Amino acid sequence: MAQITDPLRQHDWNSQEYVEDWAQRQRRNETLRARQFALLAGKVPFESEAAFRFMDVGCGYGALSKFLLESFPRATAVCHDGSAAMAKLGGERMKELDGRFEYVISDFSKKNWSHVAGGEFDLVVSCNAIHNVRAGEIIEAIYSEIFGRLRSGGRFFNLDRGSASMDDQLGWFRSAGFQDVTCHEKGSGLSLYGGSKP
Ligand SMILES: C[S@@+](CC[C@H](N)C(=O)[O-])C[C@H]1O[C@@H](n2cnc3c(N)ncnc32)[C@H](O)[C@@H]1O
Repeated sequence: MAQITDPLRQHDWNSQEYVEDWAQRQRRNETLRARQFALLAGKVPFESEAAFRFMDVGCGYGALSKFLLESFPRATAVCHDGSAAMAKLGGERMKELDGRFEYVISDFSKKNWSHVAGGEFDLVVSCNAIHNVRAGEIIEAIYSEIFGRLRSGGRFFNLDRGSASMDDQLGWFRSAGFQDVTCHEKGSGLSLYGGSKP
């Protein structure tokens, strides 16, 4: 299987040991993360009992997917990541949700990365992942590919690091084709952006 690379070489997402240590370190952020996930969940345009299908891009061990699957008990998830080590950990951590999620593995810095998942999505989310590719033109290409996988009326939310300016983020959403593009929250850590497919 192809290995993903971190352009700045800060993370070794392919290593099971690194991934488990990284996941462990997230524990100190749990309260903040739960608040951010709740903010995102509150923007999801479905009733809590609605059956819808979403993809979580760079979902890691599935912290956001798990939050959404618990908030929307009839939703199902495609958990996308480039790291088999993360997928293994996610499968263990979400065991009680078996049958409502599946992992797919590919490198989102490459063209056609989303084709490992079949069908259309009602919703695509991502948390603290896409910034890892660093280059604006690759982020823009990822947004375009997400746009292509959403059904008409579908939404995309990206809760990500503020390494890019708000103008760049909003511009990448718009050039991918999204409308109603908004920064829902600008934080010193993660900011929440969203847009919908006409
Ligand atoms: C900081 S972690 C965030 C994980 C998860 N979304 C969360 O918030 O807990 C970044 C994730 O992005 C994935 N990732 C980084 N670069 C990637 C790439 N080029 N293609 C696919 N996944 C990638 C890593 O494997 C990792 O799971």
